[in-house]
Amino acid sequence: MNPSFQLLPEQASATARHLDHLTIYLVSVATIFTVLIFACVFYFAIKYRRRADHERAVEIEGALPLEILWSVIPFILMMVMFSWGASVFFEMSRPPDDAMNIYVVGKQWMWKTQHLEGRREINELHVPLGRPVKLTMTSEDVIHSFYMPAFRVKFDVLPGKYTTAWFNPTKPGKYHLFCAEYCGTLHSGMIGWIYVMEPAEYERWLAGGQGESLAASGQQLFQLLACVNCHRTDKPGRCPNLEGLFGKPVQLATGEIVKADEGYIRESIMDPSAKIVAGYQNMMPSFQGLVTEEELLKLIEYIKSLSKLPQQPGLVPTAGQKAVAARPAPGVNR
Ligand code: CUA
Repeated sequence: MNPSFQLLPEQASATARHLDHLTIYLVSVATIFTVLIFACVFYFAIKYRRRADHERAVEIEGALPLEILWSVIPFILMMVMFSWGASVFFEMSRPPDDAMNIYVVGKQWMWKTQHLEGRREINELHVPLGRPVKLTMTSEDVIHSFYMPAFRVKFDVLPGKYTTAWFNPTKPGKYHLFCAEYCGTLHSGMIGWIYVMEPAEYERWLAGGQGESLAASGQQLFQLLACVNCHRTDKPGRCPNLEGLFGKPVQLATGEIVKADEGYIRESIMDPSAKIVAGYQNMMPSFQGLVTEEELLKLIEYIKSLSKLPQQPGLVPTAGQKAVAARPAPGVNR
């Protein structure tokens, strides 16, 4: 057989294998029953055909065993589809806790990817082998769709919102990246490559980039935009203290409680009056149009890093936190 002809794309993640098995099951059940039903239609059409003009059919009052059989067998087959489908769905939608986060920004017509350590790429994404990767994705303009067939990942990338997808690469190599949502003239050119590298090779590649970590750039931006004047950590400020905020529940003025995730922080920067924290005034200006999607990611990473700071001396900070801690904050009164 021609090796370039494949029914299914290459499998480069564990999820890809699970999804393919499910697909094969669904297609097999559909095929078997289609063939069976059509065979019965033809067989009975011939067997019970009208042989003479005066021939009358005999009425049959039903057959309980037969009816039970054709209800129970499809029920079991469908329940297998349901439970198997649900388990694969949950596997695909829940990134493991230890997944490394990579940001993706879609834009007419390119994919921009951003590693937390600072390295940025366009229409390319380098990832280490055997480590789950979580993608946090957004768009600068219209709806795109991040599609990596070899990992069976295909997820809409929406403006004004973060969506997440994850995959665990199990095979080194170079794999296709597509945009799978028609997004304008050069949609078909919005393509790229995913490189799955051996971990050591990946570390070397990562170290080859210049620049600082996303959290450190975020901290600079936090000073530059004067966020720090109101969101103080040293004394009570006019706006909430952001230390330890990320991932925690926040009580709003309306009494509602929301979780401080990426989407909440994004909204609080772009549309601060949407959710007012209990005990504070609606006084923060909107940064809509003043910060780009990529700058937002930096600010989010900075706010995340504030939650990871060691609570007491003796805890070992991560590389990102060291970068934040080591950098003197410019423009701040000390
Ligand atoms: Cu982006 Cu199609």
